[in-house]
Amino acid sequence: MVDSKKEMLMHGLEEKIRNCQRCPLGKLRTNAVPGAGSYDARVMFVGEAPGYWEDQKGLPFVGRAGRVLDELLGEIGLSREEVYITNIVKCRPPENRDPTEEEIKACSPYLDRQIDIIRPKVIVPLGRHSMGYILRKFGFEPESISKIHGKTFEAHTLFGKITVMPMYHPAAALYRPPLREELRRDFAKLREILVGLR
Ligand code: URA
Repeated sequence: MVDSKKEMLMHGLEEKIRNCQRCPLGKLRTNAVPGAGSYDARVMFVGEAPGYWEDQKGLPFVGRAGRVLDELLGEIGLSREEVYITNIVKCRPPENRDPTEEEIKACSPYLDRQIDIIRPKVIVPLGRHSMGYILRKFGFEPESISKIHGKTFEAHTLFGKITVMPMYHPAAALYRPPLREELRRDFAKLREILVGLR
């Protein structure tokens, strides 16, 4: 059962995100997308920013990339209800362009807070923007994603040691099908890590 303090803190934070005007994306959104899943998740997936369907529904990864993510989760026996899925930027950039440095700077304190409240054991940044932010946050210098996807980084936080494992963004597998195999292999490694945590 999720403790009620976490629930209260997360609900308060989600409310702030839904009302946020820290950057110009606040004026353009249909819905902000705080994140979804278990507040007690052992693993947290961090994508880049909502796309069209996410903006329509207020939920992360509900478009085509989301179907890839669901398949990968299913293959290692995980459901969305037991993980937490969010993005660095919580509102959709126009035309699905990459988030800017300013947008990441304005929005990332929400992600930092989500990490502090949920206290995951494993963080999986999906795609290079997310990888760059998360690795730097924990004191690592990012390299190209083709080089470091599936590698693990041990990070120290105020709530203990966590493992960061960057992966390709699931959308990349839609336009570069061989990457789906790489993602499958990385998800299999993630399963090993989670088994080791039990
Ligand atoms: N791509 C992302 O990075 N995040 C989403 O929520 C959807 C697509």
